[in-house]
Amino acid sequence: MLCLTLTGSTLEENRALVERNRKWISIAELRLDFLTPDEQKIASSFPSTIDIPVILTMRRKEDGGQCILGEKQRLQLLYEASKGDFAYVDIEEDVKKSDLKFKDVFFEQKVDLESSLKNRGIKIIRSYHDFECVPADLFGRIQKLAGKGDIPKVAVTPKSMMDVITIFRVQQELSAIKEKIVLGMGPFGVCTRILYKKCGSLLSFCSDGQGAPGHLTAQTMSELYRADRLDSRTHIYGVIGNPVAHTASPKIHNPGFDAIRYNAVYVPFLVDSVRAFFKLAEMIQIHGFSVTVPHKRSVQPYLGRITREVKQIGSCNTVVRIQNMWKGINTDYYGFLAPINDKIANGEIRSALVIGAGGASRAVVWALHNHGVKVTILNRTAEHAKTLADETMSSYDSLDNAHLYTGSAELIVQTTNVGMGNLEGQDPCPSLEFCGNETVYELIYKPPLTPFLSKAEKAGCTIIGGAQMLMEQGKLQFEAFTGYHYPYWVQVDL
Ligand code: ATR
Repeated sequence: MLCLTLTGSTLEENRALVERNRKWISIAELRLDFLTPDEQKIASSFPSTIDIPVILTMRRKEDGGQCILGEKQRLQLLYEASKGDFAYVDIEEDVKKSDLKFKDVFFEQKVDLESSLKNRGIKIIRSYHDFECVPADLFGRIQKLAGKGDIPKVAVTPKSMMDVITIFRVQQELSAIKEKIVLGMGPFGVCTRILYKKCGSLLSFCSDGQGAPGHLTAQTMSELYRADRLDSRTHIYGVIGNPVAHTASPKIHNPGFDAIRYNAVYVPFLVDSVRAFFKLAEMIQIHGFSVTVPHKRSVQPYLGRITREVKQIGSCNTVVRIQNMWKGINTDYYGFLAPINDKIANGEIRSALVIGAGGASRAVVWALHNHGVKVTILNRTAEHAKTLADETMSSYDSLDNAHLYTGSAELIVQTTNVGMGNLEGQDPCPSLEFCGNETVYELIYKPPLTPFLSKAEKAGCTIIGGAQMLMEQGKLQFEAFTGYHYPYWVQVDL
């Protein structure tokens, strides 16, 4: 089940949130702590005005909520609201039994909230939050919370891939507890939210916009990741990196899987330790994954087989499980070549100028060299270019001399990160002029038109943007993962 967290300040606002997200969710959580005091008083009416089950929650500030009232007042408001037709009421694990007894003015008698909820068929969620870490006794805590017959909820904060493994182990260790809610908060926890069923969790929380750290929108959870439709037979794929949140690859692979009706999902994994990730990959049977910065080199000791390109470039961007062995390939190499293959084959491109000598440049220079193109590498730090140039029998020079190379090559490739992120709007070599008959290839895809590419377009050059290479390498990964061509009818919006 996907549960939309309702953080509107009025019930009307929350009803609109449910309506807007209705097709992606099957349950909602009304956050009493986000409502204005006047709206809190009428919150009990909320469940009967929408057509899905509702969880009632009044979260304290220290548990990540908004409520700063004293404990007595907070619980009194929770009690009053809980008279509505809620499906679940969330009560924090440390709330004492004695604090859940209320004097009801209407019935003029003492009421025990727990018994009252149970008598009305409302289930209690016993919640535990940890914003610092994953506690060492996580399994024991869940068992204890479940002990009273309530639904345990643990929202903890993984700080490493090892912590993520602990969260995924919950289902192995505690499969006897059928109904439980388990989730990892923060950037490391994103994969546990998408693969919540693998963690044995009854539901996963999502928001309308960006909610708690790591929260995904209901639309992303349901349409992109199909999180609520994954099952025990779903094949898991993903991308590992650090950071990884910005990666566009899920937008390539998930719609592709859907289009060919392949029961699979592609998930971003924030990875600090490649070794730990391979452990997780064995544990939850990951079938293949993309590799991005900074792990393209560090995955290699874990691979049983690598292709010639991986060996030459020293960089692996795709890992697939083949007969219980991990095989590393490099789809950047062929993905880069795809848009210019014909021009190389018919002799239109015989020489190339490559700007940059980092990881991305290595794939480009080797691909060009192996296809008979004479390469000159221009780099800010000439010594970095020398190593790659020596390996590939290329020439090299400092970027300061870029102006000397105007008109020297049929292809110019920009591989540095100048033009994106905090270097957006910059040109790595302003002194390099274009004649207009070159093919200019930019590897940056965001923004789609960097100053470098814009300069080339204005000069009349044939331009190729980074989105093309990204898509081409993605299609090759898709083939390696599934054995099928990427479905041509899928429109990918990078
Ligand atoms: P990637 O894997 O994306 O290629 P990288 O391996 O860190 O990233 O390489 C970054 C490339 O961009 C290098 O060629 C780097 O030049 P240096 O070898 O001199 O470091 C280049 N680069 C980064 N910032 C730059 C800048 N401000 N001006 C020019 N080149 C820059």
